[in-house]
Amino acid sequence: MRIAIILGTRPEIVKMSPVIRSCLARSVDFSIIHTGQHYSYEMDRIFFFELKLPDAAYNLEVGSGTHAAQTARMLTGLEQILLEDPHDVVLVQGDTNTVLAGALVAAKLGVPLGHVEAGLRSYDRSMPEEINRVVADHLSDLLFAPTETAASNLRKEGRPDPAIFVTGNTVVDAVFQNLSLAAGDETIFSRLGIEKGGYILVTAHRQENVDRRENLAGILKGIEHVANYFGVPVLYPIHPRTRKMVERFNLRVPDNLHLIEPLGYFDFLLLEASAQLVLTDSGGVQEECCILKTPCVTMRKNTERPETVAAGGNILAGTDPEAILSAARAMVLRPRTWENPFGDGRSGDRIVRHLQKKFA
Ligand code: UD1
Ligand code: UDP
Repeated sequence: MRIAIILGTRPEIVKMSPVIRSCLARSVDFSIIHTGQHYSYEMDRIFFFELKLPDAAYNLEVGSGTHAAQTARMLTGLEQILLEDPHDVVLVQGDTNTVLAGALVAAKLGVPLGHVEAGLRSYDRSMPEEINRVVADHLSDLLFAPTETAASNLRKEGRPDPAIFVTGNTVVDAVFQNLSLAAGDETIFSRLGIEKGGYILVTAHRQENVDRRENLAGILKGIEHVANYFGVPVLYPIHPRTRKMVERFNLRVPDNLHLIEPLGYFDFLLLEASAQLVLTDSGGVQEECCILKTPCVTMRKNTERPETVAAGGNILAGTDPEAILSAARAMVLRPRTWENPFGDGRSGDRIVRHLQKKFA
């Protein structure tokens, strides 16, 4: 069996890393095909380096662009690679344009397709990610759903039961595998001049949030309210999309919000694990906070990760500044006793074992 692991962005590298590690441990033949959707060192290479992942066999270097332009470059590049270098199965993870392109190419070439993290739904088609995940799920032969909720979403859309496997989310594997490695170097706290447990962490980059002036301004104002109320440093490793939009909209960054460059996985995990509170609109960060028992406020009106809200580890606030503050105040008062709904940390290996049985 030969697996083509298609990835292209920061969260895909993190969440595919347990699958890659399992392939290496089991001597399964695989190639990493990188679309190059993310390409800045701190959005891409740093994760290969820290997580000790083998280099990609191919990198399409598609870079940034409109959805159509970016996806089109991926489609032609991926088709050519899979025609010239055949694989038995294609794996994609998540909901990015890389996933959309990988799924379309595999399906059109008749190569079996597996979708890791299948079945998530926000039921909000204004999100490009929702469109990508629906298409990928409907083209996939193997649907690796992280939870029963995700599996039930797939069944409701008529996806056949024998194609659905509840595996847990590989993000749990990534957290468990890397947190103790990260703890080997805790200099991030002194480098940032903060105390463990004495700060708030922010991430936000969703297109519908940061490409709209009103929403981005609401987020910045909400963060300012939270910073004033709690009186602790607020750190924001800012995504390049958001930095660009803050400059384009000429928005004022509150004085008590510290913008820093995106961090590597180890430093970021350490900051997440010891934060008083996390404000985010990221999918992976909602999950990691739930796993690490760090209170989370999501600056969105909906989430395709309702398990985090049901568990008690996450409150949805939208982008209204007052709503962000009141959700933050409520969230920090909750006892951190919720259960991790995303599995036991062996999802990557479960997926690879399944592929081995299927394509032996
Ligand atoms: C993409 C995914 C999103 C995912 C996010 C993870 C889609 C539709 N969106 O969003 O689901 O949550 O990745 O972070 O696939 N840029 C850089 N360097 C990079 C990459 C991007 O500077 O390495 C800047 C460019 O200005 C670019 C912008 O960020 O235009 C957006 O990049 P893009 O890949 O289009 O989308 P993301 O917002 O990163
Ligand atoms: N992350 C990181 N450094 C950062 C911000 C995030 O390593 O500065 C990691 C985070 O721990 C999680 C992943 O990136 O594993 C989430 O990626 P992102 O928020 O970009 O995408 P999403 O999950 O929303 O698709």
